[in-house]
Amino acid sequence: MAKANPKHLVTLMEMDAAGILELLHSAVEVKAKFQKMGPSQELQGRSAALIFEKPSLRTRVTFEVAMVQLGGAAIYLSPSQIALGKRETVADAAHALSRWVDVIVARTFSHQMVEDLARYASVPVINALTDKYHPCQALALGQTLLEHKKRLEGLNLVFVGDGNNVANSIAAMAGHLGMNFTLACPRGYEQPEAIQKEINRLFEKKGTSYRTVHEPVAAVANADLIYTDVWVSMGEEGREAEKKDHFQAFQVNEELLSKAPKGCLVSHCLPAHRGEEITDAVMESPACVCFDEAENRLHAQKAVLLALLKK
Ligand code: CP
Repeated sequence: MAKANPKHLVTLMEMDAAGILELLHSAVEVKAKFQKMGPSQELQGRSAALIFEKPSLRTRVTFEVAMVQLGGAAIYLSPSQIALGKRETVADAAHALSRWVDVIVARTFSHQMVEDLARYASVPVINALTDKYHPCQALALGQTLLEHKKRLEGLNLVFVGDGNNVANSIAAMAGHLGMNFTLACPRGYEQPEAIQKEINRLFEKKGTSYRTVHEPVAAVANADLIYTDVWVSMGEEGREAEKKDHFQAFQVNEELLSKAPKGCLVSHCLPAHRGEEITDAVMESPACVCFDEAENRLHAQKAVLLALLKK
């Protein structure tokens, strides 16, 4: 893959708009083909190592099922099994895994660890969530928006919540694809400055809007999508009381949704903490496409695996 088709999927910043669009359209096709014809043998005999330092339902299951449905196999490696960076260096683990498997999928606390795996592995590395980025989630959202809105350019995405890894990846995708992105968060919870600066270049190139505001109601006035995520991310458990207090006014509830235009969608990275960042009523409303997005994790990741592993 040239820039449109890089060797790894680490942040989405390494790709260009054409490459991301190609993946999203491929995901739509892969899903339709699977629904019509069932499993294929496109990755017959190929293996994925799944390194997970953190818990996961969606990411682990969708990568494992993706490999199975494409005729390959996945090997799940828990933190206690390989102790990445402790039992041996990340470089040595990357070298060894590259001799056995065709792709490494890694969920780590430190983003640097996935960057290092990509640096040392001779097989593709896919970021399955780090403290900075969650590109697979953003791709699944992109596919979901294509399915529901039939277009991406010009859409107004409003992320109500923490300027976290999911927000970073959605903003990166939005910047590449000509969407507008607003983060509505309490003061002190903006995206890191260095990431904002890098992502902002994408919006400047397209002439689209990228902004951070500290009040959710005005932010959703023109929204095509309201997105949210848990207030307390994995690894932040000690900050629970403080963060719940700061985010009270940023709940995605029926009142906030009523301030958005008719037809505005809502989604969530999942797992959701119902009654905190999103209410039951909104989760159960027809506006909410979070389970479509969860379903699309499977197909978007199949598209990524096929793009990275095609010979
Ligand atoms: N959204 C997401 O990545 O879910 P899991 O943490 O369950 O994998």
